[in-house]
Amino acid sequence: MNEPSLAQNLQAIRDEALAALAKAAGAAALQELRVRYLGRKSRLTELVRSIGAQPAEARPELGKLGNKIKREIEAEFEKTAAALAERAREGRARANRIDVTLPGVRREIGRLHPVTSVLNEIVAVFQGMGFSLETGPEAETEYYNFDALNIPRDHPARDMWDTLYLAPGICLRTHTSPVQIRTMEKQRPPVRMICAGKTFRADTPDASHSPMFHQLEGLFVDERVSLSDLKGVLGVFVRRLFGEKTRLRFRPSFFPFTEPSAEVDISCLVCGGTGCPVCSKRGWLEILGAGMVNPAVFEAVGYDPVKYTGFAFGMGIERIAILRYGIEDIRLFFENDLRFLKQF
Ligand code: FA5
Repeated sequence: MNEPSLAQNLQAIRDEALAALAKAAGAAALQELRVRYLGRKSRLTELVRSIGAQPAEARPELGKLGNKIKREIEAEFEKTAAALAERAREGRARANRIDVTLPGVRREIGRLHPVTSVLNEIVAVFQGMGFSLETGPEAETEYYNFDALNIPRDHPARDMWDTLYLAPGICLRTHTSPVQIRTMEKQRPPVRMICAGKTFRADTPDASHSPMFHQLEGLFVDERVSLSDLKGVLGVFVRRLFGEKTRLRFRPSFFPFTEPSAEVDISCLVCGGTGCPVCSKRGWLEILGAGMVNPAVFEAVGYDPVKYTGFAFGMGIERIAILRYGIEDIRLFFENDLRFLKQF
């Protein structure tokens, strides 16, 4: 049998190269094939070089064939490289794909502390009735916390409040009532204000006492303000906060800055007034202290006690939140246990 001709050898190389390219799996394999089929030491280069040794009349045809085959192999390389690059890109895209059916990562959403929510709610009720929201300092002078409120230095009434002192004459306010004085000093009647904030007492913590707690204070001063105005305003407040059926009761009490003074009760939220363990069978729950502003307080701020009358009230927010949410222990509010706080 005859030896294969140069032309046949060239075509055999092309067939072999195209078959190898069809199987190339990646960029590294492709590079290896490029060296093998198109490199300076490749069989194709060798065959093309050998054309020079062929008879002169055969050389042009063989030269053309050699170039054509080289171009064909080169074109196939380009095509394969592009196809491999595309396959790699698809692979990467598949690996990075987001599976929208997977459950998402749940983000923790913050929430208001139950004391803050109740406070906001109460503030909104009084703002709705035209009361303005005032503020005052938590570190207070004895003058504003006691003296101006008709509780002079050696008065036994001071024993009602276990006071934490920061320095002589300076204490942590034991109630929000000093803000009444600060507001009346700045403003002439009519005054219709509320104030809410932290208050402090050297009370031993138990289920209903905390050394820091919140109060909300209210004050209304004008000509001819009466006890029935106080009852009316507090009636609106308790019905808005606790429901339309809630009833209100005033019991005589004593505060140095109000005269007459009262403790205000609401009908028990659990039994409606018939008596149950929550209200200790009394049918009533105590929610705030109130009264008509003592004329001695008006004198301290320079209001004419003959011309003006007024009412004031003050409530403990934690105690109201306890009633509102049915909580057993005030200390739960301040322990920062998320299992408790997340329920609100
Ligand atoms: C006062 O503090 C008066 N300033 C309220 C007032 C204002 C009366 C205006 C008249 C006119 P009292 O000491 O009763 O009053 O406190 C008011 C409320 O604060 C109480 O009813 C209670 O709900 C709350 N409170 C008092 N001590 C504590 C405590 N240690 N922990 C939690 N709440 C408390």
